[in-house]
Amino acid sequence: MTTISRPRLIGPGINRVDGPLKVTGRAPYPNDFAYPGMVHAVLVRSTAGAGRITEIDTTAAERSPGVVSVLTHLNAGPLARGPMTPLGVSPPAPLQDDAILHYGQIVAVAVAETFEEATEAAYAVRVGYADEPAVLDLDDPRAKVRTNPWGRDADRGDVPVALAGAEVVVDETYLTVDNTNNPMGPLTTVARWEGDTLVVNNSTQWASLEGAALAAAFGIPEESVHVVAPYVGGGFGAGLRVWQHVVLAALAARVTGRPVKLVLTRPQMFTACGHRPKGRQRVRLGATREGALVAVQHEARTASAVDDDNFEPTASVSATAYACPNVITRDVQARLNVPVPNSMRGPGTATGNYALECAMDELAYRLGMDPLELRLRNDAAVHPPTGLPWSSRAHKECLERGAELFGWSRRTHEPRSMREDGLLVGYGLAAVGYPWFRARCSARATIRRDGTAYVCSAGTEIGNGAYTVLVQLSAEALGLDPGQVTFGLGDSTMPMAPQTGGSSLTGAVGSAAHEACRALVGAFTDLVADDGDSPLRGCTADDVEPADGALRRRDDPAVHESYRDILARHHRPDLSADGESTPLTADELGMAPAGAFGAKYVEVRVDPDLGRIRVARALSVIDGGRIVNEKTARSQIIGGTVGGIGMALFEETVSDPGSGRIANATLGDYIVPVNADIPDMQVEFAGSWDRANPVGTKGIGEIGLVGLAPAIANAVFHATGRRIRSLPITLDQLL
Ligand code: MOS
Repeated sequence: MTTISRPRLIGPGINRVDGPLKVTGRAPYPNDFAYPGMVHAVLVRSTAGAGRITEIDTTAAERSPGVVSVLTHLNAGPLARGPMTPLGVSPPAPLQDDAILHYGQIVAVAVAETFEEATEAAYAVRVGYADEPAVLDLDDPRAKVRTNPWGRDADRGDVPVALAGAEVVVDETYLTVDNTNNPMGPLTTVARWEGDTLVVNNSTQWASLEGAALAAAFGIPEESVHVVAPYVGGGFGAGLRVWQHVVLAALAARVTGRPVKLVLTRPQMFTACGHRPKGRQRVRLGATREGALVAVQHEARTASAVDDDNFEPTASVSATAYACPNVITRDVQARLNVPVPNSMRGPGTATGNYALECAMDELAYRLGMDPLELRLRNDAAVHPPTGLPWSSRAHKECLERGAELFGWSRRTHEPRSMREDGLLVGYGLAAVGYPWFRARCSARATIRRDGTAYVCSAGTEIGNGAYTVLVQLSAEALGLDPGQVTFGLGDSTMPMAPQTGGSSLTGAVGSAAHEACRALVGAFTDLVADDGDSPLRGCTADDVEPADGALRRRDDPAVHESYRDILARHHRPDLSADGESTPLTADELGMAPAGAFGAKYVEVRVDPDLGRIRVARALSVIDGGRIVNEKTARSQIIGGTVGGIGMALFEETVSDPGSGRIANATLGDYIVPVNADIPDMQVEFAGSWDRANPVGTKGIGEIGLVGLAPAIANAVFHATGRRIRSLPITLDQLL
């Protein structure tokens, strides 16, 4: 038999399999679902920053045209709080009492025949408050302070002694502000009850958590919650929780007996579904004159909500970033009267890396050393806390290849030493490591009589290209063309999947799909084990190789049989198998699962008279393990780069220091980069197959954003000689 040559399936990439559906409007996003008799719910939010509700008058709202129901804490009835696991924490159950914990807290829901009628009714709800002073400052002594409950603070060696003996020391403090995720698709829930079953179309990054949280809220079995979310309009972390409005849409559907649609308005997106919390970080670095790090002490204090258990480790990036014998990281959170913070792309890591990589740049200048040289000199060749080898690491390659592509050698070390066209030119660099995270995941694979395959798992597509890479990985494992494989996502009745978060989706679902496909190959060889008519008789899964819609004997590739022929002869319409992927621990692997690495190089140009900062170039070199699809991977990094430029130069959720009222809760006032702010972005991939999962990948959903802020801050210093130790860096700070 001649081997059919075909384009390489994994690597260069294929176009998005869901692209045509999306651009023709046929991909159903949560807001596209509508049902007969559906009514609309609109939220009423607190105008007090802390205190109690003293009265709530819904008379006018209830008389408003089209109103079906108005829910407040007086009639909502008891709702239980959802799960509280390290990653899947639930916010407090909504509308349970008169306490106001933050400005913008949901205090009522108006339900009416149309969205406009519900909006009018929401405005007619009258609420009286007894205000109490809101605790909003990170250093307010009234704020309760939490330490890291998951035991991830690092403490190795003897930092005080090492710092005291260090020849060169940096000790600086860096400030970051609240940022708000703002995915393009406002979070939407369409909820309906079919008898005792709750069905929700919801903007979620985690269908399985959705089921658990809603089941808990209403005291029903998890099997009685059916989440359907085949497409979600972005998330950046906003969809990683089952927020109060989701529970309230389901409650409104139960109370009214009608399907209910609830769409957050853009201003509500600033208070209802998480944000990157503000913080202050102190970084102390000690080094020898030759630039060897002898001590790292990184302490972060970030904001959390009064009643919430999310914990975002920030300083912990410093535990593994560099080879250093003496390291302390400490994360604490101050409980403030703010909306519940939550993951926003690169949570903790983006802020922690910002402070560490700025401090490294400061150290380089104190040493009179090239910042690239300093990083290479302290490269963590093994996993610093354990000494284990990494599952793969091309960190040095990222830095060196980046320097070459960027033309780093053209940089002159002195600040303010490079000029072009009357502008100050600055080069900046940051090194990045993105932590490995992967959770248990299941998938099911089916091959049908016509030789096509269907593979599914309850993960979600949030614009990241999940459908596409999962089709590729499944096609690879089954020896099919991508066009013969359909992948199903976004339905809680599918095999359990963890969150589309923590840069873990491809590794988790891809590995589970791979295992399911391997099991399916085994199911085929089992089927023909005693089949005298099959050339594969007696073969096990290990004896065959899937290719071109068939299984070939490894010992004799000329001997093969197609899936279709096997199914036809055995009168089977299809054959299915389940697969599960359980991440191995470092001990089981005998190595440290590495996560992704990267190097970010930027050039900024600063107007010396006006202080105007422009990013002229941004280069990312990423070790993302085996890249399944360079096209979608590049898109991930480019998108993250834009987010990183936003974090560095534009984004700030501004709130009133007295009440916490958010002053810029629209996309007109919350500044994000526009096309004119975005330079030529270059993306390169380094690295190769990672040994920590069966498909060789590493997560690349978040590393695109991480490192941009310090690279830009360092470039601004190089251009101007001004060390700005807070984000965002704005022109007024440079005048
Ligand atoms: Mo991401 S912040 O884990 O969606």
